[in-house]
Amino acid sequence: MATQRIKVLVTGSSGQLGLALQAEVKNRNDMDVFFATKKDLDITNLASIIAQLDHYKPEVIINTAAYTAVDQAESNKEKAFLVNEKGVQNIAQACKERGIALIHISTDYVFDGESKVPYKEKDPVNPQTVYGKSKLAGEKAIQKIAPKEYYIIRTSWLYSNNGNNFYNTMLRLGKEGRAISVVNDQWGSPTLAGDLAKALIHIALSGDESKKGVYHYSGGGACTWYAFAKAILEKHFPNNYILKPILTKEYQTAAIRPKYSVLNTNAIKHTFNLKINDWRSMI
Ligand SMILES: NC(=O)c1ccc[n+]([C@@H]2O[C@H](COP(=O)([O-])OP(=O)(O)OC[C@H]3O[C@@H](n4cnc5c(N)ncnc54)[C@H](OP(=O)(O)O)[C@@H]3O)[C@@H](O)[C@H]2O)c1
Repeated sequence: MATQRIKVLVTGSSGQLGLALQAEVKNRNDMDVFFATKKDLDITNLASIIAQLDHYKPEVIINTAAYTAVDQAESNKEKAFLVNEKGVQNIAQACKERGIALIHISTDYVFDGESKVPYKEKDPVNPQTVYGKSKLAGEKAIQKIAPKEYYIIRTSWLYSNNGNNFYNTMLRLGKEGRAISVVNDQWGSPTLAGDLAKALIHIALSGDESKKGVYHYSGGGACTWYAFAKAILEKHFPNNYILKPILTKEYQTAAIRPKYSVLNTNAIKHTFNLKINDWRSMI
């Protein structure tokens, strides 16, 4: 990729990660970025992708667009696969035909959560949910089409000030003074969306074909959802919240959550010379 003032197109730009990318590139002068919303560019519509790419001519696409409703996906399999498999396949094909580098975001949900140690990129995948299966199908579509330069970045437990996420939910419930019960037997690594955005920009600027492949990126360290909630509530409402640890079996959801989805981030750290912040970095 060129190192100076590259042209980047971000899909799904009104989502949580898209907004973090917008905040991150605001004061940069080394890239021109077109932030495409679903209205500008629907990844399930090949004609809409082609029209935007041929008009804007990006050198890099950061694909944050996805169907992310994990529980709804269980009863809406068709939609999840349409966006997370077919949509990704469309993007990958368009990138390949135009020599555009593709940075695509995937998920810890491609694993089954049975590991006891952080997952490495080559560990066997075994998604347990429709969402996880549809995201894995998207990864496979990219690898099959194989654009000249592609990066599949699996991340976990994204949080930020923007959008519908666990961090904002805890702040809202804390403010309302409600008693909160949170599961304490699922382990993962919260990831600040702004940190991931920085890493993606770094990859867009410093990647080259020899580094293409699958990578894991998350905040450093690990915790349970309960410990994550406690850190948020303690910081914002010190000694003034009611929080109870519960077990997964006491909190039924349509989609099964992995018991353990901590990601090993050594490969991305070393390949791209990235620093990983502790998961508490914004809390
Ligand atoms: N959030 C997490 O904890 C987490 C964890 C691991 C991995 N990830 C992955 O990280 C990426 C970013 O997640 P996020 O939290 O930013 O998700 P998000 O807030 O749900 O944003 C996804 C965006 O994609 C858009 N979108 C949906 N269908 C589309 C389509 N057909 N064409 C174009 N855009 C479409 C959505 O628009 P509408 O809202 O208008 O539908 C939304 O703006 C996703 O790939 C997700 O799978 C997220």
